[in-house]
Order: sequence, then structure tokens, then C-alpha cells
Amino acid sequence: MNTILVTGSAGFIGSNYCRYLLKNYPDCIVVGLDALTYAGNLSTMQDLQLTGRFRFYPGRIQDDCVVAGIIQSEKVEAIVNFAAESHNDRSLMDASSFIQTDVTGVAVLLEATRKFQLKRMLHVSTDEVYGSVDDGRFTEQTPIAPNTPYSASKAGGDLQARAHHIAYGTPVVVTRCGNNFGPFQYPEKLLPFFISRLIDHKKVPLYGDGSQVRDWVYVEDHCGGIDHALRHGNPGEVYNIGSDAECTNLEITHMLLSLLNRPESLIRSIEDPRGGAHDRRYSIDASKLKAMGWSPAHAFSSALESTVRWYLENEWWWREITSKPDYLSFIKNYYGRYLQSDL
Ligand code: NAD
Ligand code: TYD
Repeated sequence: MNTILVTGSAGFIGSNYCRYLLKNYPDCIVVGLDALTYAGNLSTMQDLQLTGRFRFYPGRIQDDCVVAGIIQSEKVEAIVNFAAESHNDRSLMDASSFIQTDVTGVAVLLEATRKFQLKRMLHVSTDEVYGSVDDGRFTEQTPIAPNTPYSASKAGGDLQARAHHIAYGTPVVVTRCGNNFGPFQYPEKLLPFFISRLIDHKKVPLYGDGSQVRDWVYVEDHCGGIDHALRHGNPGEVYNIGSDAECTNLEITHMLLSLLNRPESLIRSIEDPRGGAHDRRYSIDASKLKAMGWSPAHAFSSALESTVRWYLENEWWWREITSKPDYLSFIKNYYGRYLQSDL
């Protein structure tokens, strides 16, 4: 698999996966496709363009002619799909684009995989399709039970993949990972949102009492797991990816305060905007992929420290985003009544 189409290449994990491929496979040509929504930025792919082995196409995965044209002209052998609407809070405001991209878009990529007889498609999904678990861990056998429009749209994509494999033998593999963190994450998700605000000595809005648990994975480890599943996974199967790094939102906020040397008074506990749709705990059992030879390479605390350092050293990247009118209006609309003068 020397020519790989990476969809969502201008986003957080997709761009990191392009970096991973270009670094680890010297003969690999990486073809990026991205709609450049609010979450996709050309600046995120600047370093990829310099390698000479990365080609980028702006476009939407649900446009079948666009997808077919790229596959044929670039002689694509496999697709790794990261393209998605990915933010739970935005999905609670309006879910229509989530269904277009996360369900219809996945179906178009599956159909193209079948039609052009690609060697493999890997569909990147999330542990959130399993819903919330109070005790125990999610295995690949856990029934899917999504609780937000975002996780329901991702579950829709996963079911399209399952049915395509059963109905047509399409060689698709699905991965489900926990909450990622690392460089180039759009600053609306918990970690980059809080880090960028704390750098500026601004308050951070913690939902409810902050007791919700997330199972954190460093983005490079996620990329390694995806790549392992792409090359060694069985078509039609699902593989969980996790690093055994559970902690509450309050705990991780305290870690950020300590890494940035900021006072506890910068935490603003707010009424939970997700209400009953806020999943209490995610916990991933990744033993299936580990038994196939994959393991995470980064310890949580040192990866968190290097992530904070990356945002300190790359203000150029996130300040370009946080100064855009659409970012500012989202933050103002969603958090304005809680953060008031400290927006
Ligand atoms: P992101 O929002 O940072 O990036 C998504 C990218 O997809 C953006 O560049 C956007 O422009 C692009 N995109 C959106 N709609 C598109 C369309 N119709 N056609 C083409 N491109 C489109 O998201 P991310 O955090 O990098 O997540 C990538 C994938 O990984 C998603 O499928 C998400 O569900 C999954 N995932 C994310 C996490 C996490 O913690 N971030 C964890 C597990 C799984
Ligand atoms: P997020 O990064 O949006 O990821 P997900 O919804 O996929 O888990 O949120 C992570 C957790 O942090 C989640 O429990 C919601 C919480 N959260 C806050 O407390 N404050 C915030 O400003 C944000 C964005 C999230």
C-alpha cells in the first residue's frame, strides 16, 4: 500500500497520521482530501507539503465524483478516513452536517472502495459509539449505544461499514479510540481549549463538577494503532485503541494548571451544557489490538507535558484560529453567559 488517501488531512488526527506515514514509510505517497471546514486548516498541513510526497485536494467525502476522480488519477490503493464533524457540543446545536459527513460520507467512501477494488479502507471511529460505562470497560463486543448526535452519527458510519463488508465483502476495518490529545488539535476540545486559555491567564469552563472520566490517548499512539489495524487487521472487524489513561476532567484540569503554573481560581465550574447527553465515563479495553502486536509508546504524563510545551511553542498556529470571527462567535454563543467579561 504505497499510495494512501487520507481524508480529513487538514484536521487534528488526520494531519498527524499523514506525518506518521511520511516519517515511517519513505516510499509512501500520501494524498490528502479535506473540505476545509472550520476545523480544517491549510496551516496544519504546511510541513506535509514540504516533503514532496504529499498532495492535497480540497473537497468533500460525500461528493462521489470528487472521490472517484482522486482515486483514479492518483492510483490510490487504500483509504484511511478521518473526515468528520467531530465536536459533541456543536452536534447538540445542529446535527445536520454530522449526518451528511459521518454517515453519508462514509457510505460514499465504502462504495468507492468496492467499485475501484481498493486493497483496504480503514474507518476511524470512536469509543463514544458505545455510550457511557459506569463499571468495566468497552470491548469490541459491547453493544453500541450512542448518546449524542455526534456519537450517533459516528455509529451510523460504523454500521455502514459493517453492512458493506457483510453485503459485498468490502475490505473495511474500523477502529474505535478514546479521547486524543497532542499537537494541532482544534482549540474547542477540552485540552487545547483549556491550554490556550490558561496561557492567556483566562478562566476555563469546567462542565458540572468535572467528575466525568475520559480515557486519554496521545495522538501518535492512536496513529500507530490505526496503522497497525490497517496493515494487520481482518476486514469486517473492529479494533479498540486505548492507553489505559483514565482520569476525570477535574484531575486533568489540575494537571494543566500545574504544568502552566496557573492558580486554581482560573477554574469556572459551569452548569453542564450537555445535560443528560453528557457521557459519564469512557473506558477502553484494547487487548484485541495489543494481542496482534500493537502497544502505545508514550506515557500519559510525559505526553501531556510535551503537548503543553507544543502549544506554548506554536502560538502562531492556534492564535490564527482563535482570532477568527467564526471561532470567537462560537465561544461567545456557547460560553458567553458563563465566562462573561472573561471571554
Ligand atoms: P477534526 O475535527 O480535528 O478534523 C476533522 C477534519 O475533517 C477537518 O479537517 C475537516 O475540515 C474535515 N472534514 C469535515 N467534514 C468533511 C467532509 N465532508 N469532507 C472532507 N473533509 C471533511 O477531528 P479529529 O479530532 O482529527 O478527528 C478525526 C476522526 O477521529 C473523526 O472521525 C473522529 O470521530 C475520530 N476520533 C477523534 C477523537 C478525538 O479525541 N479527537 C477520538 C477518537 C476518534
Ligand atoms: P471534549 O474534548 O469535547 O471531548 P468529548 O466530548 O469527545 O469527550 O470534552 C472532553 C470532556 O471535557 C467532556 O467530558 C466535556 C468536558 N469539557 C469541559 O468540561 N469543558 C469544556 O470547555 C469542554 C470543551 C469540554
